[in-house]
Amino acid sequence: MIHYQPMAVQQATFKAGLTRPVHRWFRLTPSFGADLVRYLLAQLHCDTTDTVLDPFAGAATTLIECQQLGVPAYGFEINPFLHWVGQSSLQWALDPVTLSERLQQLLIHSQQQQTRVCFDNLAEHGYQIPPIHNPLRWWRPDVLTDLLILKAQIHQHCTTTAETDFFRLALAGVLVPELSNVTLGRLQLHFIDRSQDDIDVLSCFAAHARNMIADLAEQAPASAPAQHFHTSALQPAVTLPQPINAIITSPPYPNRYSYVWNTRPHLYFFDFMNTAKQAAQLDIDTIGGTWGSATSRLMKGVVQPACSAVEEVVLPVVAQIRQQDNLMANYALSYFNGLATHLRAVQNLPRKNLRVAYVVGNSRLKGIYVATDELLAGLFAALGYENIRVERFRRRHSGRDLYESVVYARQADDSDSKR
Ligand SMILES: C[S@@+](CC[C@H](N)C(=O)[O-])C[C@H]1O[C@@H](n2cnc3c(N)ncnc32)[C@H](O)[C@@H]1O
Repeated sequence: MIHYQPMAVQQATFKAGLTRPVHRWFRLTPSFGADLVRYLLAQLHCDTTDTVLDPFAGAATTLIECQQLGVPAYGFEINPFLHWVGQSSLQWALDPVTLSERLQQLLIHSQQQQTRVCFDNLAEHGYQIPPIHNPLRWWRPDVLTDLLILKAQIHQHCTTTAETDFFRLALAGVLVPELSNVTLGRLQLHFIDRSQDDIDVLSCFAAHARNMIADLAEQAPASAPAQHFHTSALQPAVTLPQPINAIITSPPYPNRYSYVWNTRPHLYFFDFMNTAKQAAQLDIDTIGGTWGSATSRLMKGVVQPACSAVEEVVLPVVAQIRQQDNLMANYALSYFNGLATHLRAVQNLPRKNLRVAYVVGNSRLKGIYVATDELLAGLFAALGYENIRVERFRRRHSGRDLYESVVYARQADDSDSKR
């Protein structure tokens, strides 16, 4: 059953988080909104006695919202930088007064360093340029110098890991786009010329850090601290302490957006990776990965359905795409193989009276409409879920019939369907 229930962009997307405490610490443009999470919690009748899982947690909107509401929650995230963002955004037991004093100290020491260090003598002072391809495409030499100084001061002066993470997160929150040669466009990063811009690393960082400290001062301590795991939703290598009762999540959409490409400046600047090979492998392991070898490996051969549910539900639309283009057919099939593998992995998690809400986006590949919402609903049905319903809540800018939707379903506790 499909119905259209429009929701304002300001509520549904990352824009909802820009003014909300804690949610505004890091902006991930494909994030869903804090308001949408609250709406989904209500739709699934979740309260503080339930445990929620977000297996594609991104910047942890679900976990932050649950922690604010006192609802126990777990998260999975495969991207090490985004996992760290989420984890750090959930650390609220820091003292705002100590943080304000530390911020002053960081600013003073950074200013002192700025008088001694310049781009040409970075190595002499022990600074390492991030090993990203063509770093000066990403950052102006003077900006990169100030960024490296500030990062080093954070490591030198913070006294605990939580404090270090807090200030690294404050820097991550303004690294892109404010302090890089990029703009966010609709979703993707685009390079722009910033040679004439007035870019002041320290004041930009300080303003953001002060907002974060103000949020902490207002934030009640977490009564039910969320737990966030750096693991794949396709093969979660974790033991969950409690059974889950609800899943609220938004997996990637089959729209060729690469989370790895778009977090590359962060991944390299904050030392989460050193080589292009690591980035390529991460994109291969990420659902819908589409950059570099994640795409070239799909060029040859024919990807096969991972299970009978995918064969039944997804193969017909993939066959239509294949008439136009083998690569895009393989891309679509490996995307749905990933989703199905994840859904089968959920069957092995401890769960009780499980209700789920998956936020997905429809797409068009080589002119063929890919109704992700209906296909996911079909996968739920094939896996034995009940009460399946699709609620379309937004038309995306890129196409009038490209909906974003919530797919709801529930699983009876005695379900033994494993296909
Ligand atoms: C649409 S985003 C989620 C955004 C999130 N709802 C938020 O508000 O920030 C999808 C996320 O799924 C993650 N992801 C993709 N493949 C994954 C996998 N196999 N296991 C875990 N996470 C994965 C991506 O890295 C990305 O952060």
